[in-house]
Formats: sequence, C-alpha cells, structure tokens
Amino acid sequence: MCGIVGYIGKQRAAEIILEGLEKLEYRGYDSAGMAVYDGEKVNVAKAMGRLQVLKEITRGGETVPGHAGIGHTRWATHGEPSNVNSHPHTNKEGTIAVVHNGIIENYISLKKKLKNKGYEFRSETDTEVIPHLLDYYYNGNPLETISKVIQRIEGSYSLGIIFADHPDEIYAARKSSPLIVAKNDNGCFIASDATALLKYTRNVYYIGEEEIAVLTEKGAHFYDSDAEEIEKEEIEIKWDADAAEKGGYEYFMLKEIYEEPKTVRDTLNPRIRDNKVVIDELKMTDEEIRSIGKIHIVACGSAYHTGVTAKYVIEGMARIPVNVDIASEFRYRDPLLDPSDLVIVISQSGETADTKAAIEEAHRKGCQVLAIVNVVGSSIAREADKVMYTWAGPEISVATTKAYSAQLIALYLIALKFASVRGTIDDKQLAAYIHDLRKLPQQIDLLLGEKEKIQKFANRYTAAKDVFFIGRGIDYAISLEGSLKLKEISYVHSEAYAAGELKHGTISLIEEGTLVVAVVTQKDLYDKTISNIREVKARGAFVMAVTNVDNPDIEKAADYAVYIPETDQYFTNSLAVIPLQLFGYYVSLGKGYDVDHPRNLAKSVTVE
Ligand code: G6P
Repeated sequence: MCGIVGYIGKQRAAEIILEGLEKLEYRGYDSAGMAVYDGEKVNVAKAMGRLQVLKEITRGGETVPGHAGIGHTRWATHGEPSNVNSHPHTNKEGTIAVVHNGIIENYISLKKKLKNKGYEFRSETDTEVIPHLLDYYYNGNPLETISKVIQRIEGSYSLGIIFADHPDEIYAARKSSPLIVAKNDNGCFIASDATALLKYTRNVYYIGEEEIAVLTEKGAHFYDSDAEEIEKEEIEIKWDADAAEKGGYEYFMLKEIYEEPKTVRDTLNPRIRDNKVVIDELKMTDEEIRSIGKIHIVACGSAYHTGVTAKYVIEGMARIPVNVDIASEFRYRDPLLDPSDLVIVISQSGETADTKAAIEEAHRKGCQVLAIVNVVGSSIAREADKVMYTWAGPEISVATTKAYSAQLIALYLIALKFASVRGTIDDKQLAAYIHDLRKLPQQIDLLLGEKEKIQKFANRYTAAKDVFFIGRGIDYAISLEGSLKLKEISYVHSEAYAAGELKHGTISLIEEGTLVVAVVTQKDLYDKTISNIREVKARGAFVMAVTNVDNPDIEKAADYAVYIPETDQYFTNSLAVIPLQLFGYYVSLGKGYDVDHPRNLAKSVTVE
C-alpha cells in the first residue's frame, strides 16, 4: 500500500526519494509524488501511474532541487487515482506539504469545519484535511502544531511533513501505520518500510504510537503527542541490501521461490537443538503449555492459509483444539476467548491492519498473543506478547512465497513443541518428525529443479478461464493457497474446494477441458480424493494431480501428475506449495503480466 520516503541532508533529496520509492513499488500503488524545499519555496511534483512517470516529468529529480523533501506512492482509498488526489497535499499557499499513509476516519467532520473557516479543498482525499489543519493551527512552531493536529485526527496515519519556513527540518508522526527514522553521515531519512533505506543505512529508530520525530541533517529528536521530548534507542536492521535486489531473476517472485530452501533452513535450524524443539521466544513454561485451553490462529491472505494447515497439524499432533479465523472477521465477531487460550497471529509484514486489531481484541479478553512475523520491529511484533520471527528476509513480490513457507515451519515447530510437552508424541516420534523437517530444504531444491515441467504445463493454461483446486484435509489447506497464488497474479478465476464438497454445487461448473488441480498427498485420503477426480473427469475436466512419489494409482485417475518427495503427512504442504507457486508464476508470466505488481493488490495491507 502507500509508501513514504523523506530525506534531509547533504545530498539532493529528490534522487534519494525516487530511489527509495522505487524500493517501495512492490507494496502496490497507483500514483506518486514528492515535495522538495529548494532554498526559497516548496516545489511539488506528482503524477498518476507508475513511478517512471514522476521520474520523467522531474527528469530523474533534476527539476526539484533541494536537500529536504518528502515523497509518496499512493494506493487509492479516498478518491480515484489521479494527479490531484496524489500526495503530497499542501495548504493554499504551498508552504506546508504533507504525505500520508493510513486513513483519517473523522475527515468528513474536519473538512466541514475547515470549509466553514474558508479553507478550499482541491482533492477528494481524507489526507487533504491535514495540511489545512496544520495551516489553521500554525503558530510558527511546527512541533507544537503537529502535536495539536494529531490530537484532533482519528484513524491511522504515518506522516511526512515539511514547512517552508523551517527549511532545515522535516517532520514525521505516526499512529497505527508504520514509519521509521534512520540516519547516516550524510543526513536523516524517514520511510514507511526499511527496504527503502537499506542502501543508505541499517541504523533505524521506530517511531511509537502518536509520537513525532523532528529530523535535521545531523540527527533526529523524538517527542510524545504533547511535544515532550523522549529518548529512543537506535536499532540495527540485519537484512542486507542484496536481499532486496533481483539478483539476475526476471521477477522477485521467482527469486523468492528460489530462496525457499534457505528460508526453511533459517527458520528451522536455530530452533532444533539435540533433537529437541527449542523455541526461546515462546517464553512459556511446560506447565503453561499444558494448561492451554484452545488455540486461536488469526491472520489474513496466505498467512491465514498457513493457519488452516496448522489447525490440522496442531490438532493432529498436540491434540489441542484450534480455531482458525480471518482477522477481519475475528475482530468484529466478539469471539469467545478464555484467558487460558493462546492466540497466534501470523503476518509477513507485521503491519496488516486487521491482524493488528485482532491482537487488541485478544488482549481485551485477557489472552496472551504469540505473533509469527517476518519483519523485525514491525507493529505486530511490538504489540504481541511474544514474537517468533520467520527468517525469510525481505519479501518484495506482492504474492508471498518464501514467507508462506517460513510460516509453515514456525507452525510445525509450535505443534511439535506443544505435542512433546503435552506427551502426545514421544521422543522417538519427535526425532522422526525432526528428521523429515530437516530434509525439506533439499527436497524443495529437487522440486525447483523440475520447474521447466511446470512452465510447459502452465503455458498450456494461459488462456484458462476457470481453474479449480481440490483436496482433503491438509491438501485442502494447500489448495486454498494454490488457488490464491494463481488468481492474484494471473487474473484467472480460480476456486479451492474441499474435494468432498464439490458435489454440493461446484461440480456443476465443470465443463469439457476445465482444469482441476487435485492435491493428493494424504495417504489415508487417497481413495477418497481419487473418487472425486473420477467424478470431475467424467464431466470433462482435465486433471493435474500433485501427489506423493509413491502414489501409483494416480496415473490411472489423473491426466497429468507432479510428484513431491516423500515426507511426513503433516509436512506435505511445504513441498506441494512449490509446484503450485511455480504454476501461478508461469501462468502470469505467460500472459505477459507484471508478476511482482499485480493490479489492485498491495503487499502490506495497512488499512481495513
Ligand atoms: C496481502 C498480501 C498477501 C498476504 C496478506 C497478509 O494481501 O498480498 O500476500 O498474505 O496481505 O499479509 P501479512 O503481511 O499480514 O502476512
């Protein structure tokens, strides 16, 4: 979603802003803009469309000279994508410029009040109330004015602000939307995502809720919402800059699929010691683990799909009841939670608005929250009681791949830990599970070696209109992800169905030549799913099966088979996901789409 980059220092701001915004393109956006102070006035440049358009109209930043500036990529929420709705927004005189991520929920009443006071609005955005409010309260002291304004706006915001009469400073503030401050020898930066700044520095400060930052060339000072100064600790980000570069791959998505063996290894290995699962971050005694009543897993998108897999794995191994919820449902349905329940939230970005709200709901009801998160220091990581990081490194492509795989590993580890503490598996079984987990990276490598086979198959289906993914149990969970991967980047309509549910409606959609992807990895359910394959084939479907190497019966039932190496039944999704991700990737590539930037989608969904 929207991205912010700001800079003040010895270098020219526009180039740094453009470069930073380019790193945030992966988040999804529809227009871009920047405001730079040139020594006399604030110049604004903005344009609908790709960042390239902004680059062209500013000749790579040349036409907006100066050493202090703020930039933005917008993902439209209030008002269509257009030049006028793009950020920065300014007051009438153009002396205050603002970029904003988030949603100002009380903007209608604020707009009405400002209009009554004679302010004219040019855009349809909620953001435009901010420069006018700043203008209205401005007393010559930007810090005091920002403090007044943030106490009057409701909703979520991360803000970058410049005041023409304070050219040696830029300002930032945030609530419920991410924003970091960073510094190096040449100046100070703000960004909504560390990826934008990795090239310049890895030393960052996290701005807290309703806090304000004042940046100069030399450093940053932080204030609470009453403008009282507060101390902040500098934190080093460990990701390296190369991880956010394509490194020879045509798209980040393929690069990230290729990083899955490493991601699995990095998430797994530090938590296995002497054939035991050790999750220090859990901070739970054995007694506490034994007294968990229920587990509630809450997440969005693909992270939710890992939760669906985890339900089968945790209930199967540890015999603890697990509810899985979509975060946007959980937060509003007044869920029945007991303080003895453990709430697990899962998020790659650590910034998903609905998932964050789920933490608040869990806390209101007295539950402990464990977050499985990829982005270190993200809001969800800070708000949860315990954090288990997935060591996937920066994930750039909008469609998640390696973070999904890392989340699965984290969840398997939790299942194994709880199962061994609660005595539902013994040491011998635990050792066998660990043995299989350790083999996964190498097995994923093997599957990646067969990518041409999937590519050829995908090329036949670039014109497909509808695709159905079916499976039972854990195979149903991976069908959900396979279907999402295909539809989100290739715009082919697809649906996932529990194979046994087909007969209750969906089978009427099967026609001659419809592609059905059947996932058949659960041995006890082979026969059942094979019957469903026969049913769709009898109605003309073409069936591709994703199955285990030792399933010879599949050859008779399906038209085409992709085999995954032998692993424990609980872990098959870690392997089956690879051909399904590759399938989505190659259909999108075959259709000539921008795989990493699917239309209308955002990497990090920071608004409801
Ligand atoms: C967006 C992304 C998905 C992701 C979902 C949840 O829709 O495009 O790939 O699964 O958000 O995001 P999170 O960062 O919370 O995992």
